[in-house]
Amino acid sequence: MTKKFYVTTPIYYPNDIPHIGHAYTTIVADVLARWNALKGKDVYFLTGTDDHGKKIADTANKNGKAPKEFVDELVPKFKEAWEKLGIKYDRFIRTTDKDHEKLVKEMLQKSYDNGDIYLGEYEGLYCTGCEAYYTEKDLEEGNCPIHKTPVEKLKEKSYFFKLSKYEKKLLKLYKDNKKFILPERRRQEIISRVSEGLRDLSISRTSFKWGITLPFDKSHICYVWFDALFNYISGSRNKKYWPADIHLIGKDILWFHAVYWPAFLFSVGEKLPKSIFAHGWWTFDKEKISKSRGKVINIDELISITNNKDSARYFLSRATPFGDDGDFSEKALIERHNNELANKLGNLVSRVSGLIEKTGIEKTPNKLIKKLNEKKIDKLMENYELDKALNEIFAFIDVCNEYVQNKKPWETKDKKVLYELKDSILKIAELLGPFIPESAEKIKKQFSEKKIVKGEPLFVKVEIENGSNDNINKSGHLEKVKEKIEGIMTTNEVNFEEWSKLDLRVAEIKKVEDIDGADKLYKLTLDAGDVGARVICAGIKEFYKKEKLKGKKIIYFSNLKPRLMKGIESEGMLLAAVSKDHKSVVLISPEGSIENGSRVG
Ligand code: ME8
Ligand code: MG
Repeated sequence: MTKKFYVTTPIYYPNDIPHIGHAYTTIVADVLARWNALKGKDVYFLTGTDDHGKKIADTANKNGKAPKEFVDELVPKFKEAWEKLGIKYDRFIRTTDKDHEKLVKEMLQKSYDNGDIYLGEYEGLYCTGCEAYYTEKDLEEGNCPIHKTPVEKLKEKSYFFKLSKYEKKLLKLYKDNKKFILPERRRQEIISRVSEGLRDLSISRTSFKWGITLPFDKSHICYVWFDALFNYISGSRNKKYWPADIHLIGKDILWFHAVYWPAFLFSVGEKLPKSIFAHGWWTFDKEKISKSRGKVINIDELISITNNKDSARYFLSRATPFGDDGDFSEKALIERHNNELANKLGNLVSRVSGLIEKTGIEKTPNKLIKKLNEKKIDKLMENYELDKALNEIFAFIDVCNEYVQNKKPWETKDKKVLYELKDSILKIAELLGPFIPESAEKIKKQFSEKKIVKGEPLFVKVEIENGSNDNINKSGHLEKVKEKIEGIMTTNEVNFEEWSKLDLRVAEIKKVEDIDGADKLYKLTLDAGDVGARVICAGIKEFYKKEKLKGKKIIYFSNLKPRLMKGIESEGMLLAAVSKDHKSVVLISPEGSIENGSRVG
């Protein structure tokens, strides 16, 4: 029987589009899934969204939407993001899925029948961001310790789960099973917090409706964390893959996973997951990732920095030891892309393929590959030391590059040396496959052909502004992406060839709509002639009333790469004149009548 490997990510709150933090956990899960599949295991990878709870209900309300309508619009953004990052999950679960709701009800009933749930009254300090109650002593300067925002005083009748009953059993679990909570320092933290004592947990709500109703009292809905945690079982193909081998989570939600979750499982008599790994926290340019402060990087922006999803995957896996906090910057990503992927791996591949194209190969035992310590890499991956495993693989890439340098096959025409290099490169591609799947696939294909030829470079180096790395953060690519999003392009000198790449066309504005959460943007639907309708988000709300835009002929850039703006895919940009002080913006319109779709140039 093949060994199973079941890996999960948290199910994310679909209250906004995903950012680099969500991408991190999901990429690591994908790396582990692919790695274990490579090792011959029967792998199952679950991710999804946490559709219920007060946080979602409140955000939907602010956007003037029903909760279900609101999450239905955001969930596809997660699926698209994972697709763009080359993530191959087996199921995308949503807590609004029927099979999940059914399982949660069964679990609630079971726990209730076992005498672990009772009715009481709750008064406490609630943080909606965390969907959790806090006590005075948990707070930092009166605020939630995680979100640093004020908590709300809530009082409601509530069903309680007898968490206190499981205190000893949990402590025994952490002590007997040293792998239950990883890394080790997190296990110690949980042991010391649980040792301070556990209070029973309020697991139902009556103050809002967006959740699963309790099977034994229809006037209450289930607490979002009881609901959410059980996704790991309802998503496990009728328990075929349960228990999970590893729940990957951020350290922000370790308490819920390491304390509530095993207690719930004890109560309903289900098996426990084998490990919970709490990874560290990413900052962006040394600041907390925060939308309100503009310190957020979404998936399109992440990929666009190097125009290569594999580089983003590689960077996040390599840049920080799994478990530690990390800082993301464009500069750091570009440096690893240039120095490690383009220079080390890319050069090896292009050099060796070029030499083979000219000289050919001759089969021979591969002595070079003995320098690769595959056992060590396996061990590191088993311990979730992804960065160290990559270090080890890249150390071998260095060895291969030196081998080329020392053996000089361009002089000696030694086909055996080139065979060893080819064989080693195929091995490298196999080992890197889980991290950089698309590039690894290209290498495998290139070096498995009968006639090996030097192909296109795998990684195109990214130019760093002004020839130095230092100012990339502020004046770099991301800023440019943002300027484009705002509809203002700052350009230097452009030659004719570059200019002629732009395709400007005439179109007519057919529909003008507001966009939730965007006070400067309109969503415009254009009649673009032969190509049909086009949707463009334009930052002109301050300057034009809707009535003035409807029916107006305009000129737009038709061949810009589509961009996600406020969750809408914008397929171009309007041509407009902007005054020096940015206080007035006027659209450029064609004079006289000309049909939609006409080219401007
Ligand atoms: O907590 N650095 O969902 P959520 C690293 N629905 N990881 C980050 C990160 C950052 N800056 N920001 C987010 C929830 N993450 C619940 C989970 S599970 C049964 C229910 C990642 O949308 C990290 O994995 O707030 C973190 O735990 C998760 O996103 C939180 O996602
Ligand atoms: Mg959170």
